[in-house]
Amino acid sequence: MNTQEIIQAESAYVLQTYIRPPIVFTHGKGLKLTDSDGREYLDFSAGIAVTALGHSDEAWVAAVTAQAARLTHVSNLYHSEPQVHLAQKLVESSFADKVFFCNSGAEANEAAIKFARKYARRDHSEQSIEYKNGQSMSKTKIVAFSGGFHGRTVGALAVTYKEQYRTPFAPLLPDVVFATFNNLASAKTAIDAQTCAVIVEPVQGEGGVNPATPEFLKGLRQLCDQHDALLIFDEVQCGLGRTGKLWAHQHTSVQPDIMTLAKPLAGGLPIGAALVTQKVADVIKPGDHGSTFAAGPLVCAAANVVFDRLNRPEFLEQVRFHGSYLQHRLRTLESDKIVAVRGAGLLVGVLLNEAAAPFIAAARERGLILINAGENVLRLAPALVVNKSEIDTAVDILAACLA
Ligand SMILES: Cc1ncc(COP(=O)(O)O)c(C=O)c1O
Repeated sequence: MNTQEIIQAESAYVLQTYIRPPIVFTHGKGLKLTDSDGREYLDFSAGIAVTALGHSDEAWVAAVTAQAARLTHVSNLYHSEPQVHLAQKLVESSFADKVFFCNSGAEANEAAIKFARKYARRDHSEQSIEYKNGQSMSKTKIVAFSGGFHGRTVGALAVTYKEQYRTPFAPLLPDVVFATFNNLASAKTAIDAQTCAVIVEPVQGEGGVNPATPEFLKGLRQLCDQHDALLIFDEVQCGLGRTGKLWAHQHTSVQPDIMTLAKPLAGGLPIGAALVTQKVADVIKPGDHGSTFAAGPLVCAAANVVFDRLNRPEFLEQVRFHGSYLQHRLRTLESDKIVAVRGAGLLVGVLLNEAAAPFIAAARERGLILINAGENVLRLAPALVVNKSEIDTAVDILAACLA
């Protein structure tokens, strides 16, 4: 099929939930992507912050190939060594005591919501839900935040802020209340005895690349402790080295009860995880949750390569160095269209005083792949192995587009 035939067949046969540019990528290496016409692009999106080691990393390809030739899938009815290695690494490098595996970020948040509900019921297994003036009086409330994004499945969507995503599918999960991000007074009003969980991204991705302040996260921790609610950090986008620390919340002293992961964990293969402390693990029993595909041998062989690489101090140091360099170069751009540059490590947003979409298209024409984060924010989330000269090329292209 040629490029046009692929694009036409896609619109004929694939449900149109995305608006895609007229490009078909055929292969990639490192930060370079090549399309079906042989054109090369510098990829500063990493498949939405996924391909942390770049495209077709050698060790990753070797591990996936070897594992595919040995064993791909047995289901979670059986033990699997690559899964156990990955779980041990995640636990030993985090606040958590146990890991639940799934296949995506949305699923990881669904798991977190279920675990929080079960935890809130730990002393009342037959607890019924009472309603007063339409409000649940049980401990089922979940507090989420303005600008937050947690996924498209029904539970994860219910705690996602953007109304445009939620309203066509209402009613969603009940008892969700949104407070204002980075506003502790607003959180204090929302979090009460009925709250079973508070879910927040330590650095909001889709919502415009907004880091939470350490005081905000600290305040949420205190409010959760005060009201016996679980604190869930959604690190699907900002976790696993993206901010220059292994976990984004390590820029503060605050620890969650549950942390959700996905995107980069297997370097491009589907995986998700909900990491939990022992008190949460204690209430979850066989049969409470599950997944056919989650963390099979193939995906975990890939994830073990990714995790071993990005959990090295010198790797994270390079992410911090290149993140600072990228932000510095963007901050010194002279363009009256730039309102602010913000982010952490290699998750960077450029807030514009106009829509980001035309600049993304212009950058693509010049060979640079970017994505947006909301209407007015250009998001730069390159592979974590990006180098200085790739950053210079990307910023020079962007500067030409914004001139
Ligand atoms: C913070 C955050 N949580 C959850 C999700 C949902 O992940 P997935 O698309 O893998 O379901 C995303 C996806 O962009 C995300 O950025």
